[in-house]
Amino acid sequence: MSEPSTSPRPAWSPESWRTRPIQQQPDYPDDEHLRRVLKTLGGFPPLVFAGEARELRRQFAEVTQGRAFLLQGGDCAESFAEFSAAKIRDTFKVLLQMAIVMTFAAGCPVVKVGRMAGQFAKPRSSGNETVGDVTLPAYRGDIVNGIGFDLANRTPDPERLLSAYHQSTASLNLLRAFAQGGFADVHQVHRWNLDFIANSALTEKYSQLASRLDETLAFMRACGLDSAPQLREASFFTAHEALLLDYEEAFVRRDSLTGDWYDCSAHMLWIGDRTRQPDGAHVEFLRGVNNPIGLKVGPTIQDDDLLRLIDLLNPDNDPGRLNLIVRMGADKVEQHLPRLLRTVQREGHQVLWSSDPMHGNTIKASSGYKTRDFARILAEVRQFFDVHQAEGTYAGGIHIEMTGQNVTECIGGARPITEDGLSDRYHTHCDPRLNADQSLELAFMIAETLKQVRR
Ligand code: PEP
Ligand code: CO
Repeated sequence: MSEPSTSPRPAWSPESWRTRPIQQQPDYPDDEHLRRVLKTLGGFPPLVFAGEARELRRQFAEVTQGRAFLLQGGDCAESFAEFSAAKIRDTFKVLLQMAIVMTFAAGCPVVKVGRMAGQFAKPRSSGNETVGDVTLPAYRGDIVNGIGFDLANRTPDPERLLSAYHQSTASLNLLRAFAQGGFADVHQVHRWNLDFIANSALTEKYSQLASRLDETLAFMRACGLDSAPQLREASFFTAHEALLLDYEEAFVRRDSLTGDWYDCSAHMLWIGDRTRQPDGAHVEFLRGVNNPIGLKVGPTIQDDDLLRLIDLLNPDNDPGRLNLIVRMGADKVEQHLPRLLRTVQREGHQVLWSSDPMHGNTIKASSGYKTRDFARILAEVRQFFDVHQAEGTYAGGIHIEMTGQNVTECIGGARPITEDGLSDRYHTHCDPRLNADQSLELAFMIAETLKQVRR
C-alpha cells in the first residue's frame, strides 16, 4: 500500500530541491561561472505568465472530466542549429491540422500544447559515451553541451543556458503571433497543408475534411454565427521536461495576483520517467509550483509509488493539476495500464491520463539508426483507448514527438518509410519523430476512436 500521504515534508521553497538526491544533472567544470549565469537568468523576464498557466489548468480540468482532448507534440529535443521561423511554423501547422481533424471529425475540443520553446534538456541512459577508446560526457541537449564528439563540445557550458532562454523567447514570440495573428484562423484551414505532402492519401483526406469545414463555416456565416473569437485565434501552450533544475529554479516567480509560486519557463512542465523518484529533487521541485504538471509513467512504476507521487504532486485532488503520461511500449500497455487505472480510480484521484506512444517503442534499425515503427505507435494508442474503455475511465490525450519537416525517422506509415530510407532525411538530435504524414494519420485514427468513445 502507499505510504501515508501525510508523511511530513519541510516547507517548500524554490531551492528546497537542493537538499534531495538528484539524477541526470550536468557536471559543470566552473561553479562560479554557473552561478553568475543563473543570477542573470533570474533577473530576466519570465517566458509565460501565471494567469496563462492557470488557464491551462482550467483546460486540463475539462479534459480530466471527459469534455476535451489533449494534444501534446513537438521535437524530442529542440536544437540551436535547427532554429528557424519555417521549422516552428511547420510544426505548428501540423499541430493545428491534427487538432482540427480531432475537433471537426470527433466533435471534441482539443487543448494544444507544444513540446516547444524550451524543450532542450535530455536525460541519458549513461552519463558518458565511448567511441573507440575515447570516453566523453554524454550529450545532454543543446542547453547543456554540444552534440559533436569532442571534449570542447561535450564539456557543459553555462552560457548555453542563456542561449536556450533567448531561443525560447523568440520561439514563443512567433508561436504567440501565429496563434493570435490570423494564421490559426479556422478559415485558413486549407493553408495549413504542407507542400511536400501534397498528393499523399492523407492530404487528400485532410483536404476533404477542410472542404466540409469550409461549408460549415459558410453556413454559420450565413446565419450570422461566425464571429466567435475562438474561430479566429487558437490557444496554444508550451511545455518541456523540467530536467535541469538550476534553470527551472531561475524562472520561479511569485504571482502578484495570488501570491502562489509558478515556474514561468513554460506553461506546463513534466517529470521524466528517469527522474520521478518520490524522494528525489525533481518531484520536490515540481510539487511546489502551481503550473499544470505532467508525470511520465513507464512500465517499471509500482502502484504504491504512483499513489505516493499523486499525493505529493496533487494533494488537493485538483482535476486540472496532474497529467499522467503513460509510456509503456505497445507490448506492455495491457500488462500495466489496467492495474494503474484501478489503483488510481480506487483512491478517487482525479488525473488527466494521456498516452505517449513514442518512448516505449524505440528500436535500433540494423543500419544503426534509432527508430520507431509507426505500426507499434498506432497499436499503443489503440490499446490505450481500449483499456480505458474497458475500465470505464477517460483516455484524455496523446503526447508525441513530431515535426513539420519532411523527415524519415520513424518507419512505416501510409507513405511507408523503410529501414533503408531512414538515412534520407534523418535530422533529429535525439529521438525519431513522426513526420507530417504520419502525424496526420495518427490524428485521423484518434478522431475515429474519439467519435466512437463519445457516442
Ligand atoms: C522525452 O519525453 O523525451 C523522454 C525522455 O521521455 P521519458 O522520460 O518518458 O523517457
Ligand atoms: Co524523446
